[in-house]
Amino acid sequence: PSQRADWKARAAALLKKHNAVLVAHYYVDGDLQDLALETGGCVADSLEMARFGRDHASQTLVVAGVRFMGESAKILSPEKRVLMPDLDATCSLDLGCPPDDFARFCDAHPDRTVVVYANTSAAVKARADWMVTSSCALAIVNHLKEQGQKVLWAPDRHLGRYIQEQTGADMLMWNGACIVHDEFRGLELDLLRKEHPGAKVLVHPESPRSVVEQADVVGSTSQLLNAVLKMDAQSFIVATDNGILHRMRQLAPGKTLIEAPTAGNSATCKSCAHCPWMAMNALQGVVACLEQGTGEILVDEPIRSQALGCIDRMLDFVA
Ligand code: 13P
Ligand code: SF4
Repeated sequence: PSQRADWKARAAALLKKHNAVLVAHYYVDGDLQDLALETGGCVADSLEMARFGRDHASQTLVVAGVRFMGESAKILSPEKRVLMPDLDATCSLDLGCPPDDFARFCDAHPDRTVVVYANTSAAVKARADWMVTSSCALAIVNHLKEQGQKVLWAPDRHLGRYIQEQTGADMLMWNGACIVHDEFRGLELDLLRKEHPGAKVLVHPESPRSVVEQADVVGSTSQLLNAVLKMDAQSFIVATDNGILHRMRQLAPGKTLIEAPTAGNSATCKSCAHCPWMAMNALQGVVACLEQGTGEILVDEPIRSQALGCIDRMLDFVA
């Protein structure tokens, strides 16, 4: 523990020295989340991370999360230095949507409005009309449907299906999935709910339909955290990456939080929902990127300026 405290103190001193701010996601290591909050940064969902980085006065952003989060920060603030603790931290949705294949998909359906999830590369965003995150996807697709637009959606098939069912929009889907949320299991969740009859079920919409169907609340990480704080219930079953439990426990210490079951359940691992790429973020990485200037995110023009359009459209919509 003292070693961790040493690394944390070193990282805090370097953030100060470089006048840098730490922008962290709820799924990263709890020490990193604490460090962000103790040093004037934020812990947030992907929409709030993008906004916080854009609006913060600091010229150096350290983004603790996965690559698309660093890229979104750089796209929004090309004049800022954007560093990440580990540049290899990616996302199965991003990996499963290669820009060239995606461009061909778009070319084949020119009559459709292209809506991409935040969890994509800058090159994929450069082909999109809109970017959405899980916190605003429903409202944006609803808006497009009301305007009579047909949607080409990528890459998460579970989120896409959920939005399609909720809005009734005409959506052509890319077949991608999050390797973490795809593992939650409806049958086992149903059994767990019977063991905890008073518990409310909180589900991230990257989860399969059988899980989303049982939800009391479906939403982004911040929306699920808010549900724990606001809902009049004592216990919650949480179907999202278990990194979020750190902040939920801090803000709602009296409530009981139960991890939703995954396919990976075993005697030693009741729930294994943790993103391997989010787990690559460590205090040591924050120290290294600030000390040595490693892990810098660069996005080539004109990809950056083309990708900016779809992010700005989303941010204007939610403003
Ligand atoms: P949020 O935008 O809900 O934080 O989701 C990001 C993510 O990667 C979920 O797996
Ligand atoms: Fe991607 Fe899933 Fe990891 Fe989120 S939890 S970064 S969607 S792989």
